[in-house]
Amino acid sequence: MPPWRMSRTFPGSPVAIAEARRFVTAFLRRWPGVDDAELIVSELATNAVRHSESGRFGGCFTVAIQVDRDKVWLGVLDQGGPRIPRPLPPPLDGEGGRGLALVAGLAMNWGVTGDSQGRIVWASMDLAPYKVSPR
Ligand SMILES: Nc1ncnc2c1ncn2[C@@H]1O[C@H](COP(=O)(O)OP(=O)(O)OP(=O)(O)O)[C@@H](O)[C@H]1O
Ligand SMILES: [Mg+2]
Repeated sequence: MPPWRMSRTFPGSPVAIAEARRFVTAFLRRWPGVDDAELIVSELATNAVRHSESGRFGGCFTVAIQVDRDKVWLGVLDQGGPRIPRPLPPPLDGEGGRGLALVAGLAMNWGVTGDSQGRIVWASMDLAPYKVSPR
């Protein structure tokens, strides 16, 4: 399979999160890891809208998918701001602070690049354990 990359920019509004999920599932639909990828992008897009400048009036975020020989890479580019993406300690009341921990659990690897001007929170998944199903 040749490597490929795809990206799309969405308005920084909560309603765009469902669109971001559909964008990912449309491109990965033949891959058995698609459900995990959908969850990951949902958490990352939600965070971009809720915690970064992407959520301000007129803001946006970009979702990128890259597939190569052995991995699927998902990245959400936001518009930065003062807050820094980092997993929170497990909540005492069971509410909130779960998104990045969930992403870390599902991904083979994840990370953050950028600064207050814009950040990419990314996650990579191993292609092999899921295998691409034949047509
Ligand atoms: N894209 C981002 N830009 C800036 N800060 C972020 C971003 N993503 C996450 N954060 C910060 O990292 C914290 C942890 O994110 P995480 O997704 O784990 O929890 P949450 O969004 O607070 O709650 P939950 O995802 O469970 O609804 C957030 O509370 C926020 O302060
Ligand atoms: Mg979150």
